[in-house]
Amino acid sequence: MITRILLIAAGTMLTLGAAHAADVDASAAEALAKKSGCLKCHAVDKKKDGPSFKETAAKYKGKSDAVDKVTKHVTTNPKIKVDGVEETHDALKSKDAKEIRNVVDWILSR
Ligand code: HEC
Repeated sequence: MITRILLIAAGTMLTLGAAHAADVDASAAEALAKKSGCLKCHAVDKKKDGPSFKETAAKYKGKSDAVDKVTKHVTTNPKIKVDGVEETHDALKSKDAKEIRNVVDWILSR
């Protein structure tokens, strides 16, 4: 009996886990982007100093290395040009891989 309950519980958790992986927590993503100062230069559908997240999502649509490239861009402080002046691109203010992935998935699904 106990084994059976455990099996059902494990099964339910697997199902929830799988459903969850595909979901983006948009409010958490937006909150971290805001806290990290990203929204000073980016908006979802408006170009500011940086491309809109819609533009970035379109650029990477169908590319298998999209998550890798964007993750690198927002965690390794690459050099970028803002109005012709070289600057260091900001990184997300989080070391939590799940939180970072959530923001990357959020950007790529705009
Ligand atoms: C000072 C302004 C500025 C801030 C702050 C900033 N960005 Fe950017 N971002 C840019 C510019 C400019 C580009 C375009 C760089 C290029 O194409 O070389 C860019 C590019 C990007 C791209 C596209 C990368 C690609 O490979 O096409 C993403 C995604 C991005 N930024 C996310 C973020 C996130 C997330 C944050 C917060 C951690 C952030 N940005 C903070 C200016 C900024």
